[in-house]
Amino acid sequence: MSDKKPSGLEDVVVAQSSICFIDGQRGQLVYRGYDIDDLAQNSSFEEVAYLLWNGSLPTQDQLDALRTEIASSMVLPAHIYDIMQAMPFDSNPMRVVEVCVAALGVFDAESDDMSEAGNRRKAIRLMAQLPLIVTSWNRIRNGQLPVEPNLDKGLAYNFLYALDEKEPDEYSIKTFDAALILHADHELNASTFSARVTAATLSDLHSAVVAAICTLKGPLHGGANEAVANMLMEIGDVDQVEDYMKNLLAAKKKVMGFGHRVYKAKDPRAVILEKMSEELGRRRGETKWFEISHRVEEIFQPTVASKGIFPNVDFYSASAYHVLGIPRDLFTPIFACSRVVGWTAHLLEQYANNRLFRPDSEYIGKTGLKYQPIDER
Ligand code: CMC
Repeated sequence: MSDKKPSGLEDVVVAQSSICFIDGQRGQLVYRGYDIDDLAQNSSFEEVAYLLWNGSLPTQDQLDALRTEIASSMVLPAHIYDIMQAMPFDSNPMRVVEVCVAALGVFDAESDDMSEAGNRRKAIRLMAQLPLIVTSWNRIRNGQLPVEPNLDKGLAYNFLYALDEKEPDEYSIKTFDAALILHADHELNASTFSARVTAATLSDLHSAVVAAICTLKGPLHGGANEAVANMLMEIGDVDQVEDYMKNLLAAKKKVMGFGHRVYKAKDPRAVILEKMSEELGRRRGETKWFEISHRVEEIFQPTVASKGIFPNVDFYSASAYHVLGIPRDLFTPIFACSRVVGWTAHLLEQYANNRLFRPDSEYIGKTGLKYQPIDER
């Protein structure tokens, strides 16, 4: 085997896109021309979905129409609940999401409709249905009945309400909605690339989204937020951070929630989530998790700054979600609930101007061998 580090397609441009722009040196993220700070502060997840799918912010009428369509799609086929009931209740929720989204493709009458209008309708349905899968699974595995969504409210409210049937306060809804905005797209990240590769074979939208979900699951991508939360729980107290980090650094282990292929400055999403996590902790009287995270950053950051490693989106979302009372193993499924908007925006773009992805590899294996019958080996 060659000892050359695999390229991981670093710096390789494989598509033209007008959806998302990242300046990794300056730590800037832009959706369709709008800075992420502006959108996180002033917009809603539904509005950002419209923006990513259509390229411009909606008028009030357009936003109302989208909200109505999302509300009418907030329903799962009865068989999806049967499938969930049949799964072991300790299943990894990301696996449950994989299975249920694949099954939605089976039950969706338009699965094989490859028209742009059909794909847009399916994108809206998936945006409405993914949170229902996640919250319903959380209730079913705890022996509870799924909660009927409140169709007058947005996706962020419904997600938080379905956790414990308690009215979420406005700041919690705003924070969760902003987190959904921040995770909605990120250029050609691994899961979006996976979705586009699948779509480029002219496979259907549900199949491409399933491929993306499977790719998001890994700890180097979407799975990092849960790993960060596990680390915070293991540390347990601000006083323990120093010792914990000393051991981690001595063992030369990666610190989850740090580092990024593209950002060589602090991830702008982490900057926003850091503030939100701190404020949320203060309002809810639970500042410990933010404080531990902050101390980890203080200790770790100077040791890796020269390599351009900074906190990424997963680092402060972990403490924020934990304070919101969300079970740790739902953190990555929440990422999917948000990123499905970005995936489908990229799929619309891919289908509109498609060419099969088929890269080359450099062959470093053997040649010229002669087949030996099995009893002679
Ligand atoms: N902790 C310690 N060292 C790190 C870290 C980290 N989190 N990330 C990268 N490094 C080091 C790595 O050891 C390597 O050092 P050296 O050159 O001495 O061998 C160098 O930085 C380059 O690392 P790499 O893994 O080759 O870089 P990459 O661009 O292939 O990986 C990454 C990017 C995100 C996979 C990586 O930074 C990582 O594993 N981070 C931890 C997991 C994580 O937080 N993932 C979430 C990413 S952001 C949200 C998302 O995309 O889902």
